[in-house]
Amino acid sequence: MKKRCLVATGGGDCPGLNAVLRAIVKRASKEQDWEIIGSIDAFNGILQDPMEIKVLDLPSVAGIHVRGGTILGTTNKHGPFAWPVQQEDGTWQEEDRSADMLRKLEFLNVQAVINIGGDGSQKISQRLFELGCNIIGVPKTIDNDLSATDYTFGFPTAVEIATDAVDKLVTTAASHNRIFILEVMGREAGWIALHSAVAGGAEVCLIPEIPYDTAKIVERINKRIINNRGFVNIVIAEGAHNIASKMHFINNDDKQGEARLGGAGMQLMKELKRAGIETDIRVTILGHLQRGGKPIAYDRILATQFGVKAFEMVLERDFGKMVAVRNGKIICVPLADATAQFHLVDTNSDLVKTARSIGICFGD
Ligand code: F6P
Repeated sequence: MKKRCLVATGGGDCPGLNAVLRAIVKRASKEQDWEIIGSIDAFNGILQDPMEIKVLDLPSVAGIHVRGGTILGTTNKHGPFAWPVQQEDGTWQEEDRSADMLRKLEFLNVQAVINIGGDGSQKISQRLFELGCNIIGVPKTIDNDLSATDYTFGFPTAVEIATDAVDKLVTTAASHNRIFILEVMGREAGWIALHSAVAGGAEVCLIPEIPYDTAKIVERINKRIINNRGFVNIVIAEGAHNIASKMHFINNDDKQGEARLGGAGMQLMKELKRAGIETDIRVTILGHLQRGGKPIAYDRILATQFGVKAFEMVLERDFGKMVAVRNGKIICVPLADATAQFHLVDTNSDLVKTARSIGICFGD
């Protein structure tokens, strides 16, 4: 029987996931004694009864590198350490089914696991590794908030989409002499906002790393809009907030998964109106458009490099590590280091300095 490598995609989807899967399968096809199987919806597929897994062979991954999403499906709910089990009184409680998962892997002759996911997924990888699982992590996130890697695939595509949105809003803002607020994703990190604000030429960029003072934004607006003429484009990260408040969350109806950020753009509009701005303000929430659709070339390339490296680490039995890119080199780092802290925007970085030098206001 062939040795098996199980792959899973976990957390929010991200352009480039399919390119990783294709690269793993293509690289593995060069080895006679290996077969790749995929777990549907992250590790939930393997935990289901009956299991939801599928063999990934060359025909099943042909041409998928150009497609967004993931052919395996994904989720940020449940998983081996938080599996919902119905209790006798009808309520649901989360239980640890990691030992069960390891037994199932052994039964399927799975000798290695590749977990493609963001911070939450790689924390699961680390815990499984500590339990003896031969696991390798592949980082993905549009938020670019994983430390230990300079970039994650998906982030450049998200920046491209957000920049395109800024470009479009500039023309309508200029035509109507309006203020446009574009809310972009990124959770606690302002990477997408910063990059798209610089690329798109926004006047104001608000990121979680720099809590803003509404008065400073009003000052910037008043310099641009004189006698009702002029326009302002503001890019705000979903995690941005003013100096007196915290991040804005929206109700998580099903009370499962991570709390959802949202409302920063609307909040800013209210603050600006309260501060006396009379110019028309419109808010656009870019939302999941940033995650959908095909990956740009850079992401396809990085995802392909990550996939090949991950399978080569399987062959070398270099487990407990995550693939990463540093200074253009594809390397691997211990999973424990990769998840130790978030990768946030350095407020003294060259890009922040460049943005300030061309007049972008951070609200500070
Ligand atoms: O982590 C990726 C991300 O798109 C964040 O930028 C965003 O806050 C979150 O996921 C949205 O999650 P969901 O798809 O569960 O609404």
